[in-house]
Amino acid sequence: MIRLHQVSKSYGHGTTTVHALRDVTLHIGAGEFVAIMGPSGSGKSTLLNILSALDVPTTGTVALAGRDVAALSDDEVTRFRRDRIGLIFQFFNLLPTMTAVENVLLPVLLGRRATAQDEARAVTLLERVGLGHRLQHRPGELSGGEMQRVAVARAFVTAPPILLADEPTGNLDSTSGAEVLRLLRQEADERGTTVVMVTHDAQAARVGTRLVVIRDGRVHDDRQTVGLPGHGEFGNPAVSYADGMADDRNRQDQPQGSHAHSSSGNHSSSGDSDSSGDSDSSDDHDRPASSKRPAIQLEAMG
Ligand SMILES: Nc1ncnc2c1ncn2[C@@H]1O[C@H](COP(=O)(O)OP(=O)(O)OP(=O)(O)O)[C@@H](O)[C@H]1O
Ligand SMILES: [Mg+2]
Repeated sequence: MIRLHQVSKSYGHGTTTVHALRDVTLHIGAGEFVAIMGPSGSGKSTLLNILSALDVPTTGTVALAGRDVAALSDDEVTRFRRDRIGLIFQFFNLLPTMTAVENVLLPVLLGRRATAQDEARAVTLLERVGLGHRLQHRPGELSGGEMQRVAVARAFVTAPPILLADEPTGNLDSTSGAEVLRLLRQEADERGTTVVMVTHDAQAARVGTRLVVIRDGRVHDDRQTVGLPGHGEFGNPAVSYADGMADDRNRQDQPQGSHAHSSSGNHSSSGDSDSSGDSDSSDDHDRPASSKRPAIQLEAMG
């Protein structure tokens, strides 16, 4: 579905060059739900921009649905993105003069007139992210988290086969964050949507079926994960993604995400939960195994 081959991205030149991505090879199969984690400045947003063909690599190749992006015309790239990719940006890019419903309908309006059906879907999506009471509000009349949820609803309005999200739960309390994750997960399960989600939240990452860790512009780790259902509480800072990995290995009885991850052959299989190194979980070793479990057994709430 999405193939990056030896992709590097640099900004600037000479001594001021920033190497945002270095030699990234990544194959994302249809129906995968990939969580991307990594420190601030490690290249996650750059990676999403390249996955969505909003930006071009300095070297290396990108193929979307089997087509080399470099070989497509600007028009073809724009059309591909409009028809097949839903984007949730780190900064929501809402139009200030439009209401919440109109902002959600924007991707539809880029291609054609909105039908009553489109409007009904926009309203339903806003209701699903808890904004049924804010339909006619403009962005200036919404909180940051509400704007974020409008942006999430907008990304879903055309039911795109690929959904790219940069910190979709970044500004949200745990309840709203859980709503957004549930929506992402439901779309992935019901429509086979391919999801790539950047997140700083280890609990949010657990919804994915694969975890890619980026450091200094490189793929530092890449592994399958269980893919917890989008239920329960998110945003618990006490649970690191390394905890999640340990947890996953210990609980093989858990239901798998229904669209399991097929193609990509480059997953790390080291099974070393600490191979992500300097994460905030370095004290794992000193804790009894039972305390590695999150307080809430998420699957039990399904
Ligand atoms: N347009 C640009 N010009 C120069 N440098 C840039 C540009 N965009 C990003 N960078 C640099 O590239 C690196 C990667 O940036 P990127 O936005 O991908 O990080 P990130 O992992 O998304 O970080 P965060 O978690 O803070 O959002 C950073 O060091 C950043 O300063
Ligand atoms: Mg970013």
